[in-house]
Amino acid sequence: PAATENDEKVLVGVIGGSGLYNLDNLKFIKHVRPETPWGLPSSDITICETPAGIRVAFLARHGPGHTISPSHVPSRANIAAFKHLGVRAILAFSAVGSLREEIAPGAFALPSQIIDRTKGIRPHTFFDGTVVAHCSFGDPFGQRLSAWLEGPVRAALAQVPGRQVQLFTDKCIVCMEGPQFSTRAESEMYRMWGGDLINMSVLPEAKLAREAEISYALIATATDYDSWRQGEEAVTAAEVFKTLQANADASRLIAEKVLDAMHEAVTQGDVLSEVQGSMKFSIMPRA
Ligand code: ADE
Repeated sequence: PAATENDEKVLVGVIGGSGLYNLDNLKFIKHVRPETPWGLPSSDITICETPAGIRVAFLARHGPGHTISPSHVPSRANIAAFKHLGVRAILAFSAVGSLREEIAPGAFALPSQIIDRTKGIRPHTFFDGTVVAHCSFGDPFGQRLSAWLEGPVRAALAQVPGRQVQLFTDKCIVCMEGPQFSTRAESEMYRMWGGDLINMSVLPEAKLAREAEISYALIATATDYDSWRQGEEAVTAAEVFKTLQANADASRLIAEKVLDAMHEAVTQGDVLSEVQGSMKFSIMPRA
């Protein structure tokens, strides 16, 4: 039968970070590359099918060959492209450094807070030069979505072969401007501020998803201890690479095991209720 407009809508989007450039454990359907008013997304968006036959959209944040640095990810185009496809909720993955002893490399986390240490060089709003809008961002992640994800993600991680992957919740992630990693003093300062994790990619992605009224949750996958541990080597790219592959395999397993139920939860609407319509009173009335 001919595909209707509705058949083409994809409710769940997945964003892969360093190491996670495909969901090749799901069935490939097609590539799409919607051109948006903010340009083209980081990569072709792959439409794939879950084990139960649900269509989801996958995007590699840094491009399929990892050629886009965190400072240059076209986040507005990425989020606008997902919006165009009908995406209502995003499950994003990102490699992160750990600022806490108990969060060892290889552990995963669903953070609940963000400290912004990007340096203003990334376009971070859709409301640029048109209307002025101030969206609420006190709780930067979809709280209901993140809370809902905990159980299914734990269950998926219990099935990772050969290792036990811990899952932490309610953590605070610092988003820094790269490409250089932090100094030891900065790393120590972030710990004093209450940071638990650090990456270079959660912003402006989470802000733009909120402006687009898309519920956004992050699965942070720890690769290293950053640079705060005295007497230990500061983080290097080589250190990050060591855990990247194993973390990407566990992330693919999460996608395979969680996306059917996530699609269902999104269809029911419960996990979306805080973001739906949230922009309505955010736009400043013209004087
Ligand atoms: N991504 C992975 N490890 C990181 C770190 N230590 N700092 C910033 N981004 C990271």
